[in-house]
Amino acid sequence: MTTVASQVSSSCAPSEYPSSEYKKIRVIGSGTTAHVWEATHPFHGTVAVKQFEQRFKFHAPTELGLLSRVQGHPNFPKLFDFWEDHKGSYIAMELMKGDLLSEIENQMTIEEVLKASLDILQALKHLHSIGLVHFDLKPENICIGHDGVFKIVDMGSAYTKEDMNESFQTNINSGKLYLTTVNYRPPEAFVEVEGCKRVHDEKTDIWSFGCIFYEMLSGGQLFEQCSDSSTCEENEQEIDEGLLMMESMKELYHSPIPKMLLENSLVKRSDSRLSASDLILRFLSLSTESPTELPTD
Ligand SMILES: Nc1ncnc2c1ncn2[C@@H]1O[C@H](COP(=O)(O)OP(=O)(O)O)[C@@H](O)[C@H]1O
Ligand SMILES: [Mg+2]
Repeated sequence: MTTVASQVSSSCAPSEYPSSEYKKIRVIGSGTTAHVWEATHPFHGTVAVKQFEQRFKFHAPTELGLLSRVQGHPNFPKLFDFWEDHKGSYIAMELMKGDLLSEIENQMTIEEVLKASLDILQALKHLHSIGLVHFDLKPENICIGHDGVFKIVDMGSAYTKEDMNESFQTNINSGKLYLTTVNYRPPEAFVEVEGCKRVHDEKTDIWSFGCIFYEMLSGGQLFEQCSDSSTCEENEQEIDEGLLMMESMKELYHSPIPKMLLENSLVKRSDSRLSASDLILRFLSLSTESPTELPTD
């Protein structure tokens, strides 16, 4: 899928015998390509092991390569090991407490939402600064660590700047290549917006961030009705209706931060969306100016 596999550092090449050292405890999560296990290791302690099914094995080196590129950053999980056997491929990493979807289902306070938002934006700022775009940001792919820090855990759909060439853009625009789960997919993936060129880049992640931010505040998806079986025009209409709901949501907060984040991320024209680093700058300057308040209803 990407050329990142070739950039895997030698320290992350498949180890020879690690599988026998990891004792599986229980399955803690499942996605499109993999199951995630809680496991123990004599040296690393309790860890998460992502087991890619045989048919998705080719995803593992890509994800490994991407995860190794973000090591050392606090908003990504620590990487421990990688190995392969006849059943599939495995990545051992830092065990997280749970995913953002469960946090949203249990209702988050405004303080928790803002904390999570800053963590997600810091992760995006770092990814974008090293020329990567995530392209599948959603609550299932973000976890909270035992240290209380939110981290992006699933890097399987990310692309490098070099990969985002003309044929990549054409494939998305012609519907040959789908990026980002449909409810978090930006308008430019469906239609041309106000003459704005349909380029797919880091602004895709910013739109997805806006969708997640709304979901953390409200407990429900903003673009729930968008669907892969709908036409582009139908999805655009869903987006327009969702944006009206977002406008009324903005008014519920006395604090200017939710308003600022919503109106600068959920912008139809991708070139008018703020970057992750600008969103962080505005967030921090507003948080020193005014304390956070709870919604009025
Ligand atoms: N390091 C981790 N610690 C704890 N749970 C995790 C970890 N990584 C992923 N999970 C859980 O497992 C689920 C599936 O993992 P994910 O990497 O998203 O797989 P896929 O690539 O198949 O979507 C996630 O939605 C999350 O709930
Ligand atoms: Mg996932």
